[in-house]
Amino acid sequence: MRNRAEALDPEYIADLSLPYRDETFVAPFQPPALAPSAAGLRGYGSVEEIIEDLAPSEPVFCIDPFELRASAARFMNFPGRPLYAVKCNPHPFVLETLFDAGIRDFDVASLGEIELVESLFGKAAGQFFNNPAKTRPAIRKASELHGIRFYTADCIEEVEKILQEADLSDELIIAVRLATPGKDARYVLSTKFGASADEAARILQHVHARGVKAGISFHVGSQCLSPGAFGTAMTLAGKVARKADVPISVLNVGGGFPAPYPGDSPASLQHYFSHVIHGRQKLALAPGYMLLCEPGRSLVATSGTVLLQVVVRRGNSLYLNDGIFGTLQELGHPKESRPVRLLRNGDRPEKRPAEFKIYGPTCDSNDVLGASFTLPDDVQEGDWVEVGMMGAYSLAMRTEFNGFHASNVVRLTG
Ligand SMILES: Cc1ncc(COP(=O)(O)O)c(C=O)c1O
Repeated sequence: MRNRAEALDPEYIADLSLPYRDETFVAPFQPPALAPSAAGLRGYGSVEEIIEDLAPSEPVFCIDPFELRASAARFMNFPGRPLYAVKCNPHPFVLETLFDAGIRDFDVASLGEIELVESLFGKAAGQFFNNPAKTRPAIRKASELHGIRFYTADCIEEVEKILQEADLSDELIIAVRLATPGKDARYVLSTKFGASADEAARILQHVHARGVKAGISFHVGSQCLSPGAFGTAMTLAGKVARKADVPISVLNVGGGFPAPYPGDSPASLQHYFSHVIHGRQKLALAPGYMLLCEPGRSLVATSGTVLLQVVVRRGNSLYLNDGIFGTLQELGHPKESRPVRLLRNGDRPEKRPAEFKIYGPTCDSNDVLGASFTLPDDVQEGDWVEVGMMGAYSLAMRTEFNGFHASNVVRLTG
């Protein structure tokens, strides 16, 4: 099905001509009406229902498939192929719901993620191995067992490693990851990965000289609050492409599209896409390249909520049953804010709001949130706290430190 942006974009036709997955596997696959993994998840109409049924003393992570579908629908307006960055939330119910809603391609960073995607969708899913630092066995298995043809590198050594380990009888595409300014993002991702413009041009020439298709990728940083950052990065990519002067088969504008967390008030997704569309026009690459993005956070953040319980109240400090070694890892950052709500079994008169410092359940002093929660001032042991917009980098970041593991996952049924 063509979406509106595709219909407007003449280059989209050329994009489709580039083989990137074995289309023969696509036809027999019937997307399920309800993700099969849903069968293993209890369904609840609301968090109030969960409290009534379970009175949970362990954290409960709730996945909302309707929100996932709505986010996926928004990304159908991206003027190219949206990949889902599996690292952000690899729960099978999340992956299957997104797949069913039209997200058929995945950014994977490890053999574990590759095997997970393959186990769920077989060859019906496109996989792009975009971690710039891969082990040799991972490349070998990705290529030989899983038929992956798309890789990313940010140095010549990694390009050579891919060429030594991958099966070259398949047409490979290697995208060169370009470092971009990260000042507009909460989490800068170009300090660890990404070549400078000059290096990137040299690596592109090297990839081309080795007889492999070349591409450019970048990541403007996670929770990027300026849509213009995409335009700036695309301008830089254009300079690199001109300097390298080799055919470009893929332009991957990465993730970084923001979630609407309280206090961040990001521009609409469409606004971000318009910067990509405009940036693409200015780039003027030769037609026929594939335009990709690989959002994580923006696709899944609003689809997850965590239901926690107050273990101890000590003055204006609350000790909850989950913290930064569990699903609240990101909330260690002082700028991270989420909608929070107090729930109590039975009626509760509305009280004045008060600020509470929030600690997790482990013995580590680092287990404390960077920002306080505003809750009614009569909060007490045994109350529940719902933390919303927790779909991204939450389940994926859990540890079992101190014997705490947030393992209860349910689905919301609307
Ligand atoms: C290569 C790559 N692509 C995509 C993403 C997803 O980014 P975001 O969740 O900000 O959309 C990440 C996040 O770390 C990444 O490293």
